[in-house]
Amino acid sequence: MQRARIPFLDLPRQYAGMREEIDAALARVISRGRFILGPEVEAFEGEFAAFCGKPYAIGLGSGTEALHLALWAAGVGQGDEVITVPNTAVATVAAIELAGARPVFVDIDPRSYNLDPSLLQAAITPRTKAIIPVHLYGQAADMEPTLGVAAKQGIKVIEDCAQAHGATYKGKPLPFGEVGMFSFYPTKNLGGYGDGGMVVTDKKDFAERVSWLREYGWTERYFSQYRGTNSRLDEIQAAVLRVKLQRLRQWNERRRSLAGLYDRLLSKTPVTIPMRMEYGEPVYHLYVLRSPARGKLKNFLKEKGVDTLIHYPYPIHLMPAYADLAYGEGSFPQAEAHAREVLSLPLYAEMGEKEVEQVAELIVEFFQTLGKSETKIKGAARR
Ligand SMILES: Cc1ncc(COP(=O)(O)O)c(C=O)c1O
Repeated sequence: MQRARIPFLDLPRQYAGMREEIDAALARVISRGRFILGPEVEAFEGEFAAFCGKPYAIGLGSGTEALHLALWAAGVGQGDEVITVPNTAVATVAAIELAGARPVFVDIDPRSYNLDPSLLQAAITPRTKAIIPVHLYGQAADMEPTLGVAAKQGIKVIEDCAQAHGATYKGKPLPFGEVGMFSFYPTKNLGGYGDGGMVVTDKKDFAERVSWLREYGWTERYFSQYRGTNSRLDEIQAAVLRVKLQRLRQWNERRRSLAGLYDRLLSKTPVTIPMRMEYGEPVYHLYVLRSPARGKLKNFLKEKGVDTLIHYPYPIHLMPAYADLAYGEGSFPQAEAHAREVLSLPLYAEMGEKEVEQVAELIVEFFQTLGKSETKIKGAARR
C-alpha cells in the first residue's frame, strides 16, 4: 500500500482548522483600512506580553530586526563584542553585525544544544557588551548561570526566543531575564502570514527606546529625537497572530505529546533523542534527533515520502561569509559535531499519532536494513 507523504510542516492543514476566524480577522483589517501599527498590533502586543508574563512588548518587522533593535536599544554598537553560539540561525549573527558589533562564539552544552555557561567567562573581554543565549528548538538555555556571569560584569543579556514561544525555565515563561525577542516567521510555533517579530521586556524605558527605534526615532510623529529605522509589525500579521495566540498553549501541549511519542518509539533505535532538561518545559519547535548516519537516514526517509530538514547543516563560524572572524575548524567541537549529526523530523500540532508512528517505523526499518558494516555506526550513535 502506498503511504501518504508526510510533509515537514503543513500550514494549509492548520489554516483549514481555523479558516473562519482567520478570514474574519483579515476582513476586519482590510475593511478598517489601517495597515501599519494600528489597533491589532496594540492589542496583540498586550496579549503576547501577558502570555510571556512581561509588562511590555513591541511589535516589529521580523525576528532579525527585533534582535537588532534590542541590541541597539541596549547601546551595543561599533567596537563592541556580543557573545552567542555558532549553532543558531544565521539571523542571530546577522543582527549582531547590523548593530555594528563583532560576534564572539561560545560552544554548546551537548545535552541541551544550547550555550554552555561554564565556557562564558573565558569568552568575555573588556569589549563584551551583550550575550545572546538562543533557546534552540524550543528548549530554554540554562539562564541562571548565564545571567549570573553577565550581572557581575554589567553585560546585557538578550534572549533569542525565536524558536521558543511559551517554553519555560524554572517555571517562568521565556524570556527568563529582562529582555527577549521573538520571531513570527510563518513556520514558528506562533507564525504569521509573512514576517514579524517582537521585543518583550520588563523595562519601561527599554520598551520605549525600541518603540522609537522602530519608527525613525520618532518620539512624536515626524519628530526624530533619535536616529532610528523602519521596522513595524503590520496589522494583517497582528490580526492573524491574535487568532493563533489563542491556540498556542494547546498547540504546544500537542507538540510535547507528539514529541513524547517519538521519544518512546525511537528509544530502541541507535539515534540520540532530544534531551529534556530538568530546569524547564520545552515547546518542541523542532524535534531533532542525532545520528552519525544522518545523511543516509535523511535520504531513506525522503525516498519513503517523509520530509526532514537540518537545523543547521553549517556552524556559523565555518561559513564563508564569516571567515574573517578567523575561527577555524575545531574551534567549537560540540557545535561542529552537532551540525554533522542533527536531523529534524516532521512535528506540528496538526499531525496525527499515526503519522508520527509511520515516521518512527521507517527509522526503525532504516537501522534494521543497514548493512553489517553500518552496525559500527549504530554503536557510535549510542555514545
Ligand atoms: C534562533 C533564531 N533567531 C532569529 C531568527 C530570526 O527571525 P526572522 O526570520 O523573523 O528574522 C530566527 C528565525 O528565523 C531563529 O530561528
